Amino acid sequence: MHPMLNIAVKAARRAGNLIHRASDNIDHLTITKKSHADFVSEVDRAAERIIIETLLEAYPGHAILAEESGAQGDSEFVWIIDPLDGTTNFLHGIPQYAVSIALQQNGVLTQAVVYDPTKNDLFTATRGRGAFLNDKRMRVSKRRELTDSLIGTGFPYTRFEHMDAYMAIFQDLMQKTAGMRRPGAASLDLAWTAAGRYDGFFETGLKPWDIAAGCLLITEAGGIVSDLAGNSNQLKSGHICAGNPDIHALLLKSIAPHLTDPLKK
Ligand code: IPD
Ligand code: CA
Ligand code: CA
Repeated sequence: MHPMLNIAVKAARRAGNLIHRASDNIDHLTITKKSHADFVSEVDRAAERIIIETLLEAYPGHAILAEESGAQGDSEFVWIIDPLDGTTNFLHGIPQYAVSIALQQNGVLTQAVVYDPTKNDLFTATRGRGAFLNDKRMRVSKRRELTDSLIGTGFPYTRFEHMDAYMAIFQDLMQKTAGMRRPGAASLDLAWTAAGRYDGFFETGLKPWDIAAGCLLITEAGGIVSDLAGNSNQLKSGHICAGNPDIHALLLKSIAPHLTDPLKK
């Protein structure tokens, strides 16, 4: 394993263990509302602290972009961290959440970890070296038609400016695919797409920490990831479409007629 991936895995496991222990006691957690339907708990913050500590102990000069504490440092190496992706699930006792850590070097994603502590699923990738679920190589699915495909997505729930376009895309795909899923943790949705569990995934309005690790997992598993217009702006815009190459192309084709100008970026 690449030494930088090794450190990221150590950080993700430490945070995952902390989250897993805390899941026994969710009724007693201190929870704060960041904005409408956007919650953060002491567990998110503690998990983030342990991740940053672990990464900076190994690489003191590296920079950080983390959901709860923001940006720190200035380096060609930037760790992009979601300490607990799927907080709403976590706070409701629904076992679908993960730790997501990615490394960008000069703007290029090079290492990725998504760790699901309840299933002990560790998804990892190093640029150019493939993607793995635990110790097994992962590949995207081989399905070629939307009618056979299971598509993951995330509903808008904090900001609703893209609601109409989203609903039009959703309605369209609902009728064309074998089914749609909204489990509630974008990093895991992407990891599951990389593992071939879903054939494709799309969502609007995500943040870099939700998707950075998942993007590398997908490409290293042989899939394609883009924004909703098919360009590579997904980390900036947060609008994302992913899947095996055939399903990714078919998703883009179905999405195109519904795109408003802001969703094309
Ligand atoms: C959320 C999850 C969810 C997605 C949201 C994200 P959080 O992350 O990934 O699936 O639909 O947009 O914000 O807030 O639980 O880290
Ligand atoms: Ca998140
Ligand atoms: Ca989070």
